[in-house]
Amino acid sequence: MGFNLAIDGPAGAGKSTIAKLVASKKGYIYVDTGAMYRGLAVHFIKKGIDPENESEIIAALDSANVNIGYENGIQQIYLNDENITSMLRNEEVGNMASITSAVPKVRAKLLELQRTLAREKDVVMDGRDIGTAILPNADVKIYLTASAMTRAKRRFDELTAKGIPCDINEIAADIEERDRRDMTRETSPLKKADDAFLIDSSEMTIDEVVDEIIKLCE
Ligand code: DC
Repeated sequence: MGFNLAIDGPAGAGKSTIAKLVASKKGYIYVDTGAMYRGLAVHFIKKGIDPENESEIIAALDSANVNIGYENGIQQIYLNDENITSMLRNEEVGNMASITSAVPKVRAKLLELQRTLAREKDVVMDGRDIGTAILPNADVKIYLTASAMTRAKRRFDELTAKGIPCDINEIAADIEERDRRDMTRETSPLKKADDAFLIDSSEMTIDEVVDEIIKLCE
């Protein structure tokens, strides 16, 4: 059994930035479970599936094989042996992942892959239900959050820096809708595990958050 650090929290809290830095400082492997749900979402989009139609989603699961690999230490997602990593990070895929991840069979499909990685290696795994459902015995659990406005502002700055025009109020509304969906679904909703450390990064720098988590791992 490797060392398991679980980081959960809402969209835009900075989980992946922080988890990657902690992983590289501690020599752990970074596992981004949201990317796995996004990998399945790409499959559903390619098949033209209606995200509200649960039976279509379940039927499409049989033809999806999601796998994870690493190239120069960077996580790659394979869908039926095709590397689809570059297709994962957009709003359409994120929303499809948020809606379809509420389906218990979708979650069940990814559970074993996630647990196997944590059994075999020292990992920082980030997601929504890592501390509560996937790795209930993780060595350290973090619930990383920030106010909805802080998260919207970070996303706004990120898109603006890339020259993508956007509206901060629309981003905030999207984040709030995603939080609502992730926190209110019946199966494995996003919530803080009782034994997780709560870190609110609204007023913290990235380095401060990373240092605090590293201290908790010592
Ligand atoms: O972290 P992310 O934005 O890449 O995740 C996309 C969606 O996947 C998120 O809105 C909810 C779902 N997800 C989940 O249900 N459980 C996880 N462990 C990770 C992500």
